[in-house]
Amino acid sequence: MTQLGAIWAQSLDGIIGNGTDMPWHVPEDLAHFRAITTGYPVIMGRRTWLSLPERFRPLPGRENFVLSTRKAGQWSQGATVLDQLPAEEDLESIDQAWIMGGGQVYSSTIDQVDLLEVTLIGAHLGDSLGDRAVLAPEIPRDFGLVADSDWLFSVRGRLDLGEHRQDLPLRYRFLSYQRKEAA
Ligand SMILES: NC(=O)c1ccc[n+]([C@@H]2O[C@H](COP(=O)([O-])OP(=O)(O)OC[C@H]3O[C@@H](n4cnc5c(N)ncnc54)[C@H](OP(=O)(O)O)[C@@H]3O)[C@@H](O)[C@H]2O)c1
Repeated sequence: MTQLGAIWAQSLDGIIGNGTDMPWHVPEDLAHFRAITTGYPVIMGRRTWLSLPERFRPLPGRENFVLSTRKAGQWSQGATVLDQLPAEEDLESIDQAWIMGGGQVYSSTIDQVDLLEVTLIGAHLGDSLGDRAVLAPEIPRDFGLVADSDWLFSVRGRLDLGEHRQDLPLRYRFLSYQRKEAA
């Protein structure tokens, strides 16, 4: 049976994006994402797919599924477009598959996932993104924390908040959760 996981990075106040991008750049988190997901299918919403720079689409070493009600076309080249989560038989003999965003897809699938890999980015974004802020889903109570890296410092990490771009020694922290009944 395929285990379904979700992986995201969020600010301390739960923000994952500005609608078109992530409001930070933390290379260590990108490496973590690559390490967790490589070799497994990834599933994302159309907006997240389109937010990936064209040169990184499809994400290599992973089957890319894009959720959309639109017809596949030039825009989706390299991915498989689905109008719902892949069926169990589409993922047959695959150990894991990873939901990789964005906000809409995390919140509509959180009840179907058993694993969560959450990166906390050590910054509060407050209302800096206004109504463009896209939020992480609430982690249901039946998930338990199974691993915690504690705070690490990003050497080249930065926040990207438009004109208020800040370069900081940014902290980040990897948290792993499992649904208790699946543990
Ligand atoms: N921090 C992180 O880890 C992280 C990760 C990923 C993304 N993000 C950020 O999240 C933001 C994008 O998130 P978002 O909520 O705006 O969009 P999204 O979830 O990426 O995509 C939404 C689109 O996906 C399709 N969709 C969603 N659920 C569907 C379903 N059940 N069946 C069929 N199609 C479905 C729809 O496409 P159609 O309109 O074509 O039907 C919908 O408009 C960006 O800012 C991105 O940078 C952050």
